[in-house]
Amino acid sequence: MANKTSDTMDKLVSLCKRRGFIFQSSEIYGGINSCYDYGPMGVELKKNIKDLWWKSMVYERDDIEGLDASILMHPTVWKASGHVDGFTDPMLDCRETKSRYREDQLLVYVPLSGEGLLYAFPEGYPERIEKKLRKAKVDTTEYQIQPLTEIDKSLYSRLVGPDTDEPGTLTEPRMFNLMFKTFMGPVEADANIVYLRPETAQGIYVNFHNVREAGRQKVPFGIAQIGKAFRNEITPGNFIFRMREFEQMEMQFFVRPGSDEDWFDYWKEQRLKWYERAGIKSENLRFSEHGPGELAHYAKAAFDIQYQFPFGWSELEGIHNRTDYDLGRHEEFSKKNLKYFDQDSQEKYIPYVVETSTGVDRQVLVSIADAYEEEEERVVLRFNPAVAPMKAAILPLVKKDGLAEVAQNIVGKLRKQFRVFYDESGAVGRRYRRQDEIGTPYCFTIDYETKENNTVTVRDRDSMAQERISQDRIMDYLVDRVL
Ligand code: GAP
Repeated sequence: MANKTSDTMDKLVSLCKRRGFIFQSSEIYGGINSCYDYGPMGVELKKNIKDLWWKSMVYERDDIEGLDASILMHPTVWKASGHVDGFTDPMLDCRETKSRYREDQLLVYVPLSGEGLLYAFPEGYPERIEKKLRKAKVDTTEYQIQPLTEIDKSLYSRLVGPDTDEPGTLTEPRMFNLMFKTFMGPVEADANIVYLRPETAQGIYVNFHNVREAGRQKVPFGIAQIGKAFRNEITPGNFIFRMREFEQMEMQFFVRPGSDEDWFDYWKEQRLKWYERAGIKSENLRFSEHGPGELAHYAKAAFDIQYQFPFGWSELEGIHNRTDYDLGRHEEFSKKNLKYFDQDSQEKYIPYVVETSTGVDRQVLVSIADAYEEEEERVVLRFNPAVAPMKAAILPLVKKDGLAEVAQNIVGKLRKQFRVFYDESGAVGRRYRRQDEIGTPYCFTIDYETKENNTVTVRDRDSMAQERISQDRIMDYLVDRVL
């Protein structure tokens, strides 16, 4: 993506809207911040990504079972998990502009002399601060950049916020819980508060014994789940990268204590392989290890798989060694035995958990960003065929002379297995371009020769090369290439 500049994001957002991948939620009312709707192409892409993940986690293995737990859970789950007390971000407000920032996402220009004003700016947006500093005639060589978290609170009176020119408008940071609350039942009282789950993982832990027994599994084994999660993010943004309502694909693998580090390495490797399979360019992926100060409250070790988004390297997936923290806490709070009895070794223990957790929406953004190419005459999404929303387009050269009927007949057969698109309007070249833009890997064109010898033209999205194949082979052609 080296040639992709920050305006790539604007192009992706506009393509997503124009071609029916992603719309702003409640757009006719002016939209609602950080919530998005998936359109006809978006739902297909999202479903295919989920299917590919589910296939690799559940269908192709004997040691992982599926689960679909409820979004609303007993409120004590979130006390046990640590989210009521610990799932917080430090946030500060600008009294003048009413903007809200996360303390750990602001950097500050600090004068080396120790005198004068300090300038805060959001990480990742250097151009905004540069403009402001030019206006204030500040010589940046006489400043150093420090994270806001390291700035003494007594200096806040000299601190200029990102969106103002006046110092002293930022409040000191306060902790803010990211869980959405609602009420269960008709009475809006504190006793009836329930939370929208901020991660799907807890539904897996509380079902540990249920799934293990029903699946007749022995440790080591895993439970996989795909589902919605909700976080009242302070600074959502970058399109579907950070949302308040999103979907996760999480897998919790339960292992014997002591074998956790080996399983952790195993899952790191497996997950990287999955991205290869999903067709994501390896040069756009990397691991990033969490330092001791960055580890979540439950983790002994954590690696992110990062992707090189148009706005920079950012987290796509987290792989965590969660130790026995979660099951141990649920045992303590529920007073139920969550230990595992190992019949072979006669040991009894709380299993350790190795978790792989990724956001479906981030996967969608990655798939689109990674596939996006601008060529001289076309914009093309080079999706891996397995995730492409449409597997094929069926195009009669003209509507007349029975060609449309032949094409419809082919569509009828393919629909039993594949999502395909029928298009009879406009010049064939333009119809190819429309398919390129939504990433359809193959176009089958029905022409007069089809009537003579039963062959059709297949046009390949990536090479734009064309070949003729027998009409009877279309189904197999797709089975070989897109499944
Ligand atoms: N159960 C562990 C857990 O939830 P996390 O690192 O907070 O860990 C895991 O989240 C993944 O979920 C992230 O790597 C990201 O892909 C996705 N995710 C988290 N917050 C998100 C948000 N606000 N919007 C979209 N995706 C998000």
